[in-house]
Amino acid sequence: MRLSFIICFFLGIFLSTFTDAFVFKFTNFNCKSYNESWFVFHECRLKAVSRDRIVFNMNGSILHPAYRIKMHYQVLKKENGYKPWLINGALDACRFIRNKYDPFGRVVYGLFQEFSNINHTCPYMGPQILKNFYLRYDKLMLPFPTGDYLLALRWHFDEKLQFDTNASVAIVEDLFQKKS
Ligand SMILES: *[C@@H]1O[C@H](CO)[C@@H](O)[C@H](O)[C@H]1NC(C)=O
Ligand SMILES: *[C@@H]1O[C@H](CO)[C@@H](O)[C@H](O)[C@H]1NC(C)=O
Ligand SMILES: *[C@@H]1O[C@H](CO)[C@@H](O)[C@H](O)[C@H]1NC(C)=O
Ligand SMILES: *[C@@H]1O[C@H](CO)[C@@H](O)[C@H](O)[C@H]1NC(C)=O
Repeated sequence: MRLSFIICFFLGIFLSTFTDAFVFKFTNFNCKSYNESWFVFHECRLKAVSRDRIVFNMNGSILHPAYRIKMHYQVLKKENGYKPWLINGALDACRFIRNKYDPFGRVVYGLFQEFSNINHTCPYMGPQILKNFYLRYDKLMLPFPTGDYLLALRWHFDEKLQFDTNASVAIVEDLFQKKS
């Protein structure tokens, strides 16, 4: 498991030098709160800003301070419906934000952190914003075969599921042809 991650990591660095030839974009986004007395979504929306760029905007509120936050992550790949695909785990968000201890968490965080206001330590409270967030292949650092994927992030406070942020993404891995 660890070795395959290291191999993937270096392959990712190699592949990321070909970024121009990849498509990596959002196709759908689903947000859902399971406890609106703790987390409310005001906005969760994709917007096509140009032919090649789809941005995601999210505005949510945490209504009481959250000190114990766990993020469960799973990647599914579409083949007659979404099937679990290799990556499945969980991380302690309060610990992660201090020392980035989880390799897959680092990948996800690297993709969105500069578009968000979550770059601070626990507790989390108030507005949680993602603004004009778009996907960049050079930040992915992992080789994904061409396909449609679902990244399901399920957020737990005090060990109880509070909300989901599920991103569907399309990846076209095409080393030697420019996207048209
Ligand atoms: C829902 O949120 C409230 C805080 O507003 C919390 O006290 C309660 O435990 C939460 N319920 C669940 C099932 O998470
Ligand atoms: C987020 O939504 C709240 C409630 O609708 C609103 O007051 C706030 O201005 C919004 N923030 C951003 C950055 O859009
Ligand atoms: C927030 O981001 C800044 C600049 O990117 C960085 O220097 C700082 O360490 C970050 N803080 C946390 C808590 O991650
Ligand atoms: C997010 O994806 C997970 C895993 O497939 C699923 O169980 C959950 O219902 C999804 N949530 C939403 C809001 O679509």
